[in-house]
Amino acid sequence: MSVVVVGSANLDVVARVARIPAPGETVLASGLRRSGGGKGANQAVAAARAGGAEVAFVGAVGDDAGGAELREGMRADGIDVAGLETADAPTGTALISVDDDGENAIVVVAGANGAPTQLSESQSAIVAGARVLVTQLEVPVPLVRAAAAARADRAWHVLNAAPSSPLTGDGATLLADVDVLVVNEHELRDIADVEGFDDAVGALAARLPALVVTLGSRGCLVVVSGDRRMLPAHPVRAVDTTGAGDTFCGVFAASLARSGALPGDGAVLEVFAEAARVAGAAAALAVERPGAQDAVPTAAEVADLIARSGESR
Ligand code: ATP
Ligand code: RIB
Repeated sequence: MSVVVVGSANLDVVARVARIPAPGETVLASGLRRSGGGKGANQAVAAARAGGAEVAFVGAVGDDAGGAELREGMRADGIDVAGLETADAPTGTALISVDDDGENAIVVVAGANGAPTQLSESQSAIVAGARVLVTQLEVPVPLVRAAAAARADRAWHVLNAAPSSPLTGDGATLLADVDVLVVNEHELRDIADVEGFDDAVGALAARLPALVVTLGSRGCLVVVSGDRRMLPAHPVRAVDTTGAGDTFCGVFAASLARSGALPGDGAVLEVFAEAARVAGAAAALAVERPGAQDAVPTAAEVADLIARSGESR
């Protein structure tokens, strides 16, 4: 019942601003905080806090204080970090501005995340033990490819195609090795390269066993074999949306691992819809709090939100 996340770990340096500066503009921040981030590490933390599945993280940090902090943070969440290697480059850093509406602008300096293009032997062995492999595009595409190739025959590969990339060139054939693609609306448009939401969903879903499109405050759409299921979001006041998508992906992966469903099983729409329902509740809670990993809720908090919203319907 294990989830293995292969991806990035960043130190997030977050400035709170009234509004995101326009090009050439300077704005004054009202506060600055540092916290654990990086799409891969955020997803691993979300999967671990969801409970019920062992979680391992495979990636790289630098031989510096930031790397040690990230490693310790994940360990404290019970994540197996044996596959977190030390690269000859500084730990990845994300420079983030968050405005009064909770929206963000992010610049990522890849550092150690940009170095590896292959898995080491021990990292491959960790991936081979996964029931659910989770990847993103904040590490080199060849590394994502290598991870997909190293997974066991009947293990799920969930790719969160973020940050947005048209997946051309090296990435063009990546989708052939993906079981579940999770994208937001921008990523959907970039990858499908088709005008119009419905047509883009149809075009991309036809290339994949399953597609999940996250739609921010509108929830998400799950598509399996042409069948669509729309799941509304929980109404919350957005404080900081950073890591909402990561929380969604990590919790989704943990739910999928717990379900016992395997690739090739029939009738998985209900399994994915249930995983997306729990993931959406976790992401809504994350949006209400500042930070990326700091904002990820526990399983008990998510269960409480689901129970409360059930009562109010
Ligand atoms: P980010 O890049 O900010 O981490 P994203 O663009 O990858 O996020 P979104 O579609 O914005 O992904 O959000 C992912 C999920 O988080 C949504 O499907 C939804 O369940 C939840 N979510 C995001 N924003 C809100 C919100 N304002 N209110 C409630 N739920 C939200
Ligand atoms: O998805 C949010 C993450 O994107 C942040 O934690 C930041 O590190 C960037 O990778």
